[in-house]
Order: sequence, then structure tokens, then C-alpha cells
Amino acid sequence: MLQDNQNLVPPPQRRNLPRYHQPQSKSSGSCIKCFCCCCCCLIFSIFFVTVIAYILYALYTPHVPNYKVKKFEVTSFNVLSDFSINAEISVTVEAENRNEGIGFNYGKESTSSILYRDKTLCAGKLPAFEQPGKNVTMIKVVLKGKREFGLGLLENLTADNKAGKVPLLIVVKAPISVVIGKWPLRQVLVKLNCSLVVDNLTTDNKIKILSAKYDYQIMF
Ligand SMILES: *[C@@H]1O[C@H](CO)[C@@H](O)[C@H](O)[C@H]1NC(C)=O
Ligand SMILES: *[C@@H]1O[C@H](CO)[C@@H](O)[C@H](O)[C@H]1NC(C)=O
Ligand SMILES: *[C@@H]1O[C@H](CO)[C@@H](O)[C@H](O)[C@H]1NC(C)=O
Ligand SMILES: *[C@@H]1O[C@H](CO)[C@@H](O)[C@H](O)[C@H]1NC(C)=O
Repeated sequence: MLQDNQNLVPPPQRRNLPRYHQPQSKSSGSCIKCFCCCCCCLIFSIFFVTVIAYILYALYTPHVPNYKVKKFEVTSFNVLSDFSINAEISVTVEAENRNEGIGFNYGKESTSSILYRDKTLCAGKLPAFEQPGKNVTMIKVVLKGKREFGLGLLENLTADNKAGKVPLLIVVKAPISVVIGKWPLRQVLVKLNCSLVVDNLTTDNKIKILSAKYDYQIMF
């Protein structure tokens, strides 16, 4: 022990050492003191890191990522005899993170669905992934479902297909946390509505996206 101290601490400070070491082995009171000190240090550290993170967050106010539906593919679309629709649609969304040094961590518990005239056609999940700063990622979502539609709604769909204008609503709810450097901040729930108009909703067709409108809502 003496040897260790000689190696680590320069001689003038060595005389002080016993004073700090003596009480530790003396009573349990000093143990509690030491424990409290450690706790204080820990709490202070956590507080300090949080404050720094929030200051950085406030300084570099993150831009909400830009989303754009790039591809809309109908892999299967069958109208069954009971007027229900069995559909599988894959949607490719371009997510652009313009922020420098700010990433987004997409959580697992996401939901997405495609609605036609307020009726859910199919549903799916977004992949969980982390998007770094200054990055563009293509997110492919596969939505499936067999839903009852009814004759009236099917007639509407046939009419819309004939007219070449099918209004759809894609609803996405995704838990996303902002990541600064390596620090993930609190998770927020991002709600994205995309009002899409496609020219046709059938299987063997090159489907064109005629218009798209995006609405965001962020729940803290
Ligand atoms: C964007 O991030 C994704 C996911 O981390 C990565 O796979 C991809 O290579 C990145 N793209 C660019 C252009 O940096
Ligand atoms: C949808 O269909 C119903 C009944 O078939 C019809 O009354 C209604 O006008 C249609 N809606 C539109 C917007 O075409
Ligand atoms: C949409 O597809 C259906 C079935 O393939 C077809 O009858 C209809 O003409 C198409 N509509 C347009 C606008 O291309
Ligand atoms: C998205 O659409 C749903 C259903 O129409 C609506 O309840 C919700 O408020 C919309 N959310 C946003 C962010 O526009």
C-alpha cells in the first residue's frame, strides 16, 4: 500500500492521506456519509447531463423529418364474394433528416393503416431503425388486411377507379426519440396523415400518385 501511494501521489500530498482514510474504517456513520456523497454525485451528474442535453436540444432545434411517399404498389387486391377486400399494399416512404448531428430513433410500437372513405383497408408496422443526421432513408411498409367493405363502398371504389381518382388516407403513428450524439432524449409520438390520391386501386396496374398532402402532429 505504501508502495502504491509512493507511485501515485507526489510526496507533499502524502501526509494528508491518512486523514481521509482513517474515518472510513472507524464508524458506520462515515459509511452513510460516503454513500450519500456518492448518491449526490450521481444525481448531480444525471442532472448535469440532462441540462446539457436540453440546452443542446434547444440550441439545435430539430427540424421535423420530411416524409414523401415515393412508391405505392398493390401486390394483391381481391374483392371477395362477401363484399370484403383482401389487400396487400406496400408503400415506400422517403424520410429525410435534414438535421446535422441530430438523429431519430424509430421505435417498435408503430402503427400504420390505409383508409378509403374512413374505412380501414389494410394495416402494417414501420420497421424500427435509427436514422443518423443528414440522412435520407427509404422506409418500406407492407400493409395487409381482409376487411369488410359492403356493396355501397365497393360501388364507390369502382366509380373512383373509372374516374381515375381514388382518395386514400395513410395514417401513421410512430414513437420516435431524438438522438443527440449518442444521447437519446425523451420519446415523442409522431402522428402523420398523408392524404393521397392515386389513379387506380387494382392489382395489375402501374399506380400513379396524383397528389399527396401531409399533416403532422407531435404528442409530447
Ligand atoms: C442513412 O441511414 C441508414 C440507416 O442508418 C443507412 O443504412 C444509410 O446508409 C444512410 N444513408 C446515407 C446516404 O448516409
Ligand atoms: C358512394 O356510394 C353511395 C351509395 O352507393 C352514393 O350514394 C354516394 O353518392 C357515393 N359517394 C360518392 C362521393 O360518390
Ligand atoms: C383502373 O383499373 C381498372 C381495372 O383494371 C380499369 O377497368 C380502369 O379503366 C382503370 N382506370 C383507369 C383510370 O386507368
Ligand atoms: C389524421 O386523420 C385522422 C382520421 O381522419 C384524424 O382523426 C386525425 O386527427 C388526423 N391527424 C392529423 C395529424 O391530421
